[in-house]
Amino acid sequence: SPVSKEFDVVVIGAGPGGYIAAIRAAQLGKTVACVEQWKNPEGKLKLGGTCLNVGCIPSKALLASSEAYENAQHHLADHGIGVGDLTLDVGKMVARKAAIVDKITGGVEFLFRKNKITWLKGHGTLLGRTATGVAIEVSGEGQAEVVGAKDVIIATGSKARHLPDVPVDNRIVSDNEGALSFDSVPKKLAVIGAGVIGLELGSVWRRLGADVTLLEALPEFLGACDESLSKEAAKLFKKQGLAIHFGVKIGEVKQNASGVSIAYTDKDGAAQTLDADRLIVSIGRVPNTDKLGLDAVGLATDARGFIPVDDQCRTSAPNIYAIGDVVRGPMLAHKAEDEGVLAAEVIVGQKPHIDYNCIPWVIYTEPEIAWVGKTEQQLRAEGRAYKTGQFPMMANGRALGIGKTDGFVKMIADATTDELLGCHIIAANASDLIAEAVVALEFKAASEDIGIICHPHPSLSEVVREASLAVTKRALNI
Ligand code: FAD
Ligand code: NAI
Repeated sequence: SPVSKEFDVVVIGAGPGGYIAAIRAAQLGKTVACVEQWKNPEGKLKLGGTCLNVGCIPSKALLASSEAYENAQHHLADHGIGVGDLTLDVGKMVARKAAIVDKITGGVEFLFRKNKITWLKGHGTLLGRTATGVAIEVSGEGQAEVVGAKDVIIATGSKARHLPDVPVDNRIVSDNEGALSFDSVPKKLAVIGAGVIGLELGSVWRRLGADVTLLEALPEFLGACDESLSKEAAKLFKKQGLAIHFGVKIGEVKQNASGVSIAYTDKDGAAQTLDADRLIVSIGRVPNTDKLGLDAVGLATDARGFIPVDDQCRTSAPNIYAIGDVVRGPMLAHKAEDEGVLAAEVIVGQKPHIDYNCIPWVIYTEPEIAWVGKTEQQLRAEGRAYKTGQFPMMANGRALGIGKTDGFVKMIADATTDELLGCHIIAANASDLIAEAVVALEFKAASEDIGIICHPHPSLSEVVREASLAVTKRALNI
């Protein structure tokens, strides 16, 4: 069918990669459309992708609610505050989360109107090249139209990986979508995969009273973390009551009248069964490239399903870019956003750059885990000489005041030049504390630079300073 409308840029997918790419391209004077098909459980079309609908934002809303509940139950008494009979209304908690999602996805709709971005509602498929660019079919609600674009940005994101032969009904067996909307607290919750989602959502339901068991295939967890952080995390999570079994091999998973039964072999090869009311499967995510028409423009995915791109998110097809979870690199919202800005700027001929070594990671457990740059094990493998400095939260006055003394900050610097190479934090508010280290790393600062600048007192940020001073054995408060 003929092309009904022409745009300078068409973005496929309106997650944090796609919607930010669309806004940046519009700021740079392009006519922009964004194709998005996401529907919420009520059947309403939504912008914002995984992150805003069933990822970062709703998970952090539930983490905050469950933390408030746990504080009321266990920690307010330390402050001399009694709360009488504590009650829990899961329906209201989940409704609060849904309202936050509605507000923030509505915010993206507002930004699209403000930046004159056309939302093409439906599924986008690449049809092939035209005289002026690329033709894209948008199909949805029984209708289809074909639009043209000089440049295309693919930002189709990812979806949960499922276990073969274990159907996800998002009732008894859930991926991230169902696990963010349970209607009650399961008595016993099983989680397959002790990665980021398993730990965050496992923490939510544990704090609300579930007995949570995580089954992890590898002998250790959080393999991307500095090993001192994963060790400390394992100790703290165990103390909190999260049971994690490592080195398991999952066998048959069967639903029954009372929930679900998971057969597995443990690390010693012994057969075990775990019975639970509900199961969350969080074993990683796979890129979305179904029915995208990649072959029509001469593209193919790599063996793991990602679309190959260069440092500037160019695919091998002219004028077609790909960003976010559908390409190499960490599956993180802020990485997708930065690539969105980059792709739009490359399209107008600018020369943007992303240093992937300066992308921070955060896991929103209690305490939070955050890091940027290299881990000790990476530096050892590279044969680079380094020194470290570490400072415990326990020795910080503010941490004592807020009652969050678990964890530490560790800095890693080059042994001769003192250039900061990595910062690793397991502590309350690590997600905010890490920002200072990201700036330092991006500016190629020395660890001493952080150690000699003034930090507010009393604040958790003083621990970052003290850890930097500790690199040269100059920490003051220990
Ligand atoms: P997505 O957000 O997945 O968006 C892609 C969009 O494209 C979707 O809306 C999809 O409907 C649409 N789409 C796909 N194919 C088509 C098509 N053919 N036509 C039209 N539309 C299409 N990251 C963090 O940095 N911090 C966090 O705290 C965090 N928490 C998370 C918690 C959970 C439970 C999950 C699941 C993920 C979390 N993430 C977090 C990861 C983060 O959500 C992703 O990295 C991010 O959403 C990737 O953005 P994206 O734009 O590449 O893709
Ligand atoms: P993940 O990759 O973080 O963890 C998956 C875990 O499952 C791994 O430990 C893996 O060894 C294990 N596993 C894989 N197959 C298994 C099997 N058959 N049996 C038992 N264990 C198995 O993936 P997850 O948690 O699904 O999250 C996906 C991605 O979403 C993350 O990698 C991250 O990029 C993103 N995310 C980011 C968050 C954040 O930034 N705070 C929060 C949540 C998700």
